[in-house]
Amino acid sequence: GVLVLDFGSQYTQLITRRVRECGVFSSLVPGDISKEDTIKACPSAIILSGGPNSVHVEGSPRVWDGFFEYCEENSIPVLGVCYGMQLIVQMLGGKVEPCGKSEYGRMPIKIQSQDTRLYQDCVEDEQYVWMSHGDEATQLPPGFIIAAKSEQGALVAVENAARGFYGLQYHPEVTHSDQGMETIKTFLFDIASCAKTWSMEEVLEEQIAKIKAQVGDKAHAICALSGGVDSAVAATLVHKAMGDRLHCCFVDNGLLRFNEQERVMTLFKEKLHLPVTCVDASERTLAKLKGVSDPEKKRKVIGAAFIEEFKSFKKVVESSTGCIPTFLVQGTLYPDVIESCPPPGSNQKHSHTIKSHHNVGGLPKDLGFELVEPLRELFKDEVRALGAIMHVPVDFLKRHPFPGPGLAVRVLGDVTADGAMETLRQVDEIYINMLRAEGLYDKIWQAFAVFLPIRSVGVQGDCRTHSHVVALRAITSSDGMTADWYHFEPKFLQEVSTRICNQVKNVNRVCYDITSKPPSTIEWE
Ligand code: XMP
Repeated sequence: GVLVLDFGSQYTQLITRRVRECGVFSSLVPGDISKEDTIKACPSAIILSGGPNSVHVEGSPRVWDGFFEYCEENSIPVLGVCYGMQLIVQMLGGKVEPCGKSEYGRMPIKIQSQDTRLYQDCVEDEQYVWMSHGDEATQLPPGFIIAAKSEQGALVAVENAARGFYGLQYHPEVTHSDQGMETIKTFLFDIASCAKTWSMEEVLEEQIAKIKAQVGDKAHAICALSGGVDSAVAATLVHKAMGDRLHCCFVDNGLLRFNEQERVMTLFKEKLHLPVTCVDASERTLAKLKGVSDPEKKRKVIGAAFIEEFKSFKKVVESSTGCIPTFLVQGTLYPDVIESCPPPGSNQKHSHTIKSHHNVGGLPKDLGFELVEPLRELFKDEVRALGAIMHVPVDFLKRHPFPGPGLAVRVLGDVTADGAMETLRQVDEIYINMLRAEGLYDKIWQAFAVFLPIRSVGVQGDCRTHSHVVALRAITSSDGMTADWYHFEPKFLQEVSTRICNQVKNVNRVCYDITSKPPSTIEWE
């Protein structure tokens, strides 16, 4: 496959995904990968990503010494993108300098040479690309040609086809570069002769074989289904390999959305034919949450309660099968596995200090299981594609994310407060149904309602009311790390507000959250 060396650009995962979209396996590795690991990966091509650094600053990241010589000797073509191109130019004896005028945004470039291989399939001489850089190549390394220039005359594409080195100053992986995908394809197929072997059908077959080899033909495995896409797809896949030696549980902690238990249990049993036990832990969990209103404390209580339920489930499986389950299936995805460099200014590496996150619903490593993680190499959109070929319904695959601690982080304060959860469920259901009916659900990354622990004065049917206030949230995002609030038409907001106040007893005010992340987070707690 193709190795993408990560030098910290916000687009590195996108490069890896684009290569996979072309049918070629690609993995993202740190830019300072060692010579040994590079050789072990046996890449058919290498892409050097962009990054926030400047090549002429002491200590800026580089590839290992002898990297280019090794690639040339072994006919491994190298494509540098942005910082990656500057690295090629500088390390091979050219010159990189700060631009007189930084170039940011979409701009036209012009192909300069008849001999270019990067643009050999281009019909037009001009194309629009996405540029974002403060340094530029001012002198080519020996043997290189200029393939394209910007309007200001900057060198935006250079190549030395004889040695297999190519550089693009812009980002071909973003959709704002209109011929970007074509250029990536030319690099992969015409220049690097990569084979198209990455398809979800092959992943499915490969993973089934891998799971069979890992677990053997006697061991039992267990899996906690959350109602989300990842655990459902992971369990469906493992079920194909293990059959009824896989035991799934779905824990209803009393913090689920309207009718959620019935909805997901029907899906698991009737559509996916998974062997799943529903554990009704709502009374036990809610009892533990009584009087708890600190957000962090709530998360910890819910996490601990979940682990207790899971341990009891393990015992149930043991006594019903006579076997101790030794494997645990988890829906870990590729972005959780890769050690990518965080984009500049992001708090990616430190996000767990903001909320004790993403472990609720997950399980601690010391439960004594060997992990089965069939989605470890996949991005979210690939998991959806894999789910689709296993006949997981599309509606389900497109569901918005739902946090492990459930509605507890959406009822501010004590979740057991009289009627709070019931009110929130009704409001959320009306809101989400309206989003679906208006064709907005798939345009939004996540949407939900929040119950506020206050009352406000209203007038309904000529009477004064003193009732609850709810907030609605809808955001767009690519990964949940940053988010923008969704700009609804005022008419939609007006209608949803009217419906909620008319249909839900005890609500007389609806607010819409217009804060992005940062400074807010997506959930309110
Ligand atoms: P925040 O609120 O931190 O949320 O901006 C980012 C995304 O993560 C979800 N979320 C969680 N998911 N366990 C989860 O599995 C959690 O404890 C948790 N807390 C927040 C949230 O819904 C959003 O999609």
